[in-house]
Amino acid sequence: MYTQSLDLPGGQQPAAADNTEVSPEQARFDAVMRADGKIEPRDWMPEAYRKTLVRQISQHAHSEIIGMQPEGNWISRAPSLKRKAILLAKVQDEGGHGLYLYSAAETMGVSRDQLVDALHAGKAKYSSIFNYPTPTWADVGVIGWLVDGAAIMNQIPLCRCTYGPYARAMIRICKEESFHQRQGFDALLAMMKGTQAQRDMVQQAVDRWWWPVLMMFGPSDKDSIHSGQSFQWGIKRISNDDLRQKFVDAIVEQARVLGVTLPDPDLKWNAQRKAYDYGAIDWEEFWRVVNGDGPCNKERLATRVKAHEDGAWVREAALAYAAKQAARARRQAA
Ligand SMILES: [Fe+2]
Ligand SMILES: [Fe+2]
Repeated sequence: MYTQSLDLPGGQQPAAADNTEVSPEQARFDAVMRADGKIEPRDWMPEAYRKTLVRQISQHAHSEIIGMQPEGNWISRAPSLKRKAILLAKVQDEGGHGLYLYSAAETMGVSRDQLVDALHAGKAKYSSIFNYPTPTWADVGVIGWLVDGAAIMNQIPLCRCTYGPYARAMIRICKEESFHQRQGFDALLAMMKGTQAQRDMVQQAVDRWWWPVLMMFGPSDKDSIHSGQSFQWGIKRISNDDLRQKFVDAIVEQARVLGVTLPDPDLKWNAQRKAYDYGAIDWEEFWRVVNGDGPCNKERLATRVKAHEDGAWVREAALAYAAKQAARARRQAA
């Protein structure tokens, strides 16, 4: 889950626009792009393509594992055994998404340790949405419905990304995300059929999450710096604003079924555009949260670093076991 279209300043070189002769490797790459084919790890690729994808895939992986935290803290407090089992499976899925994505990034020549170190040092970004708190059980349902829902919108086009390992990871991830969204909607529907206090709890959670969720699609197209090149490389297929519009149009109907009000007085059907108009997004809040000053940024990072440190013995034991197995295999071969 996450914004996977977070275009941030820095780190990407513009494509060379000179008249120098194109190398055979570059010509092959360009042909693959023109044919909308796939680049695989063994293939030559321009350095800027590699850098862009390492940045995007690693931000995506970090978002998956940081995204385990806001819901993870409700596993021990889920209202029933059924909801607990569902939530456990969901949070575990998010950990799995992180693993597929770190593996996809590693095929581009970076190590998982480097990526994780950058996250822990506060140098790497992850989706701003996971820096918001989950004070009630309804927040867990709203994350499934809206956050996973926004993630699906963002991620379905990535199943056709030109980088093979990323595209293949996304196919599996999207299947799991649609289960996440449905379980969130189902949990909220159960609460909406309950008491007035439960309905109020759902509405308050929707009020908290609506605007941050719209921010998940990333800056408006006019401020989205790297989109042009990502479109040419077949990494990005649909613009941030177009994805956001598709999401709003889908969610308005779902909110009606659920019986909640989306907290935007400017939200109304535009017959000309055949789409919903919506109010202005507070981009200052978005940049504040992306740059480390959201409600839970420090807590999320501290929890992540602690989990990594507490797990050091597991990694050491696994490495020692692998070394022992390798030594045994060598002895047997000798
Ligand atoms: Fe996920
Ligand atoms: Fe998810």
